[in-house]
Amino acid sequence: MMKKLTLSVVAALGLATGAMAAGGEGHTHDVDFSFEGPFGTYDQFQLQRGLQVYTEICSACHGLKQVPMRTLHDEGGVGLPENQVRAYAAQFEVFDPELDDYRPATANDKFPGSSLETAPDLSLMAKSRAGFHGPYGLGINQFFKGIGGPEYIVSILTGYTGEEKEQAGTTFYENTAFPGGWIAMAPPLYGDDVEFADGHSTDLHHEAEDVAAFLMWAAEPKMMARKHAGFVAVTFLLVLTTLLYLTNKRLWAPHKGKQIDA
Ligand code: HEC
Repeated sequence: MMKKLTLSVVAALGLATGAMAAGGEGHTHDVDFSFEGPFGTYDQFQLQRGLQVYTEICSACHGLKQVPMRTLHDEGGVGLPENQVRAYAAQFEVFDPELDDYRPATANDKFPGSSLETAPDLSLMAKSRAGFHGPYGLGINQFFKGIGGPEYIVSILTGYTGEEKEQAGTTFYENTAFPGGWIAMAPPLYGDDVEFADGHSTDLHHEAEDVAAFLMWAAEPKMMARKHAGFVAVTFLLVLTTLLYLTNKRLWAPHKGKQIDA
C-alpha cells in the first residue's frame, strides 16, 4: 500500500515537471521586498519612487482604474501629504456625466484607465499573476516567498533579451519571464528613465523593483492592517489556549488523584 502511494506521488511529480517544461513557463527570480514576511511593511519612499515611475512611464499605456487617488495619502502606503495628492489628481481630466463635460480630476476620482486598448489595467496585476510555481509545479514555495506577483513584474521588466519579431502586424519582444516567451509590450524601462528626488539608484533593476512595489500596494493597500489584525488574533488565541489549558488541568486534578490547595 505504502509503496503504491509513493509510486503515484513520484508519478504525479513527474507529470507536473513535464507539464511545466511543455507549457514554456517564464522564469521569475526572487526579490527581497520590505513587505514580505509576517511583519513586513511597505517602504514609503520606495512606493513614492514607484508612483513616479508608474506616472512618468507606465501610465502612457496602462491604467489603474480601480484605485482611488485619495488613497495616495493613506498611512502605511505612499503617504503623500494631502496638498500633493490634490496636485497629483489635478493633472488628469475626467469626464463628468453630470456636467456632460471634462473637468480636472480631484482626489476622490480614481486613477485614469488604460489609454492603450491592448495594455491591461494594472490595479490588480500584482495579485493576479503568480511568479512562483515550484517545486515541480506544485506551488508549495508560495507559502515561503509569497505568490510572486511583484517579482513577476520585476522579472518582466528586466527579462527582455533584445530579440524582436513581427507577427500579423504586431511586434513581439522576447522576454524570459513572460509565459510563451514573447510579449507585445516594448521594453518600457532601460535604466535612468526617471530622476528620483531622493537620489536613489535609477538602474533598471531598482526602477523595476520600485514600480513593482508600488503596484503591490495598489493591489493590496491594506496589507499592513491585515497583518496586524492577524498578529492580534494569533496572540489572543495563544492567551486563550493557555488559560483553557490551565483551567482544564485544575478541573480534572481532583479526579486524577492529585491534591490542590483551594
Ligand atoms: C507603450 C505602451 C506600454 C508602456 C509604456 C508600458 N506597457 Fe506594460 N504592456 C503594454 C502592452 C501592450 C501589454 C500587453 C502585452 C501582451 O499581452 O503581450 C502590456 C503588458 C504588461 C503587463 C502584463 C504582463 C502579463 O502577464 O500579462 C505588465 C505587468 C506590464 N505591462 C507592466 C508595465 C509596467 C510596470 C510599465 C512601466 C514601467 C509598463 N508596463 C509600460 C504596453 C505598455
